[in-house]
Amino acid sequence: MAHITASVYTSHVPAIGAAIDLGKTGEPYWQSVFKGYDFSKQWMKDNKPDVIFLVYNDHATAFSLDMIPTFAIGTAAQFQPADEGWGPRPVPVVQGHPDLASHIAQSVIQQDFDLTIVNKMDLDHGLTVPLSLMCGQPPADQFEWPCPVIPFAVNVVQYPVPSGQRCFNLGKAIRKAVESYDQDLKIQIWGTGGMSHQLQGPRAGLINKEFDTSFLDKLISQPQAAADIPHIDYVREAGSEGIELVMWLIARGAMNDVAGGKSPKLAHRFYHVPASNTAVGHIILENPF
Ligand code: DHB
Ligand code: FE
Repeated sequence: MAHITASVYTSHVPAIGAAIDLGKTGEPYWQSVFKGYDFSKQWMKDNKPDVIFLVYNDHATAFSLDMIPTFAIGTAAQFQPADEGWGPRPVPVVQGHPDLASHIAQSVIQQDFDLTIVNKMDLDHGLTVPLSLMCGQPPADQFEWPCPVIPFAVNVVQYPVPSGQRCFNLGKAIRKAVESYDQDLKIQIWGTGGMSHQLQGPRAGLINKEFDTSFLDKLISQPQAAADIPHIDYVREAGSEGIELVMWLIARGAMNDVAGGKSPKLAHRFYHVPASNTAVGHIILENPF
């Protein structure tokens, strides 16, 4: 049986990817961001999963305004890094896991969540920046990520967006799907995006540390209270792009305690302002054995 070993939560700021790709991680501005991930990179080596189920949002890269799936699961064998206007990031191709992805699609759709099946999709910073933060940049001669990744894209760009509660419930369904897969695989589920940020309009640059801190506290120990936050509160309190945080609830809904098991162990917590226009938040939760 496959099972979820841990969940990882992290912001996905594109400038972080650019800092890595352009060799600027040692600059003072960036040092204080990256030092929050030193623990995480070692943790990834010590807790290598067989597959990462990576919840992220596409930023009008693979999906234009022509077609906007609310929830889309990547079932391909491979996914290319996207060209977001300045060439694709120099990162490895993402290897998928078509068999597990198809199984999860079957199970989750039968649990009444309508997923869009995506057999071809390029991956933007929403997915590749979290991978770089957690895994480092693999050397050119070792051009691969540590394990296959199932990309799971959520629409948080074009309204209407899914509620936090729906995302939380979807996480529960994903957990059931994983646990009914007949191979013994260790799966990590990642929720990415956030924290507070607003990129446009009169409130551009908004950061709300109080909201972010309270969200992190709730996410760790009172996940249902985090799921209860109405979508408009994210926008009011955390900015128009702060709504990306609902994706963290998908990962949190898949943890043991939500299904009646033991509380997760907080392995790591980090918060830093600023990175570009964003507050960076990062948490690692481990399921007890
Ligand atoms: C920024 C943050 C994001 O989450 C994003 O998708 C684009 C830009 C930023 O802070 O610049
Ligand atoms: Fe984003």
